[in-house]
Amino acid sequence: MFTTFFSTSLLCAVALAQDLGVPTTWREFSNNRSLSERISIAQAGINVIDAQLDASTASFSGIGYWQNGNVFSAMANQDYFAKTTVYQSTVVDALNTVYSLYSNADQYGYNDDAMWWATAAYYAYRAYDNTDMLNHAIATWQHVSAYQVTAAQASAGSTPVKNFTLAGTCNNVTMAGGVFWRPTTDDQSINSITTGLSAYLAETTGDTPTYETPAITAAQWIQNQNLNSANIVLDSVNGHDCTRSSSSWLFTYNTGKFVEGLAVLSDVSGDSQWKTLMIDVVAAGTKNAPWQGSDGIITEAASDTSNNDGAGFKAIYIRGLNEAFVRNQDDWDFQVLIHSYIDVQYNALLDLADNNNSYAINWHGPATSYTAWGQLAALDVLVSSISANT
Ligand SMILES: *[C@@H]1O[C@H](CO)[C@@H](O)[C@H](O)[C@H]1NC(C)=O
Ligand SMILES: *[C@@H]1O[C@H](CO)[C@@H](O)[C@H](O)[C@H]1NC(C)=O
Ligand SMILES: *[C@@H]1O[C@H](CO)[C@@H](O)[C@H](O)[C@H]1NC(C)=O
Ligand SMILES: *[C@@H]1O[C@H](CO)[C@@H](O)[C@H](O)[C@H]1NC(C)=O
Repeated sequence: MFTTFFSTSLLCAVALAQDLGVPTTWREFSNNRSLSERISIAQAGINVIDAQLDASTASFSGIGYWQNGNVFSAMANQDYFAKTTVYQSTVVDALNTVYSLYSNADQYGYNDDAMWWATAAYYAYRAYDNTDMLNHAIATWQHVSAYQVTAAQASAGSTPVKNFTLAGTCNNVTMAGGVFWRPTTDDQSINSITTGLSAYLAETTGDTPTYETPAITAAQWIQNQNLNSANIVLDSVNGHDCTRSSSSWLFTYNTGKFVEGLAVLSDVSGDSQWKTLMIDVVAAGTKNAPWQGSDGIITEAASDTSNNDGAGFKAIYIRGLNEAFVRNQDDWDFQVLIHSYIDVQYNALLDLADNNNSYAINWHGPATSYTAWGQLAALDVLVSSISANT
């Protein structure tokens, strides 16, 4: 994987626009473990949480609904990157269960929850070539897409799904492309994480108007409205009065979701602006973000003593970085940066936070006994280490 070099001078120019050098202060940014060893370690980590599965509700004691969906994402991606089918029946059964229990996988009236499950369904389709899974993902997107602000709605200042005046612009820039967080008629929040799936669906179906156009407008919305001056993705904007989430609400998963979406969108669209933006956001997230110190180890949620939403964020961030990695194998500097960053996290988990394949939420350690949220947070690092190493 590290034996290919720049195939065109264009890629070289893109890479040179950003300093992608790996900080030498990072702790252990390479790893020697063999592919089969990395696959076994990830399976062992997944098996610890899998032992806690309640198959009747596709849930794990100790974490919440959206987090449960992300466990199945990790299982499907494990099989996809390891080229195995170890978790196929577990994943497919869980997704069929959730989609039969809750219409469009929306248990509680949150578009982002539904989208986490739909994204898990997409990964399951990709891993197992199972069209039922693709149809689950499409069903959720058809439901959620009604909550994406169109250019016409932004101009008119109203949308049929909300009962308040829509802010057509904020800071004099259009709000088109934003996706409301909740279907509830009076909920005004538009956030970053309710995006990303349509780029995958565009890639799979080739249906530009239904999937690629929404993916582009969603990316433009984040770029216009929800990216700070340091290229870190912000959380949310109010779709009525343009008030914003605190500028200190900088969560790994917002950046991770954006990176993942941009990686897919740049492949689907062939438009180099998305690749340039992806590289800028990855460089910002890995080198200049508030969620790691000079050793490079992610500290978000490290002091949690019980589950909360934040415990699940860093897994999603690593997953997004890994997707950017596997899709840009001809861009050497970019590859080395992401590979090194993922290995920092992987080595920290294995050296400092591992207790017999149960992982502490604090990746600096000490190791603790099993918690569902600590295990969830580690899964995508274990899985990504399969693809992000030779
Ligand atoms: C890689 O393997 C060599 C030789 O076994 C060892 O000296 C080195 O410490 C290893 N590096 C890492 C990062 O594990
Ligand atoms: C808003 O944008 C329009 C079109 O780009 C421009 O003509 C106008 O001067 C801007 N208004 C403000 C207050 O910046
Ligand atoms: C919007 O809907 C909410 C919830 O049903 C209701 O409380 C509120 O009065 C409605 N607002 C308008 C302007 O209709
Ligand atoms: C380690 O985990 C395995 C599988 O989860 C379990 O069978 C074994 O008893 C554990 N060993 C220790 C020392 O806790």
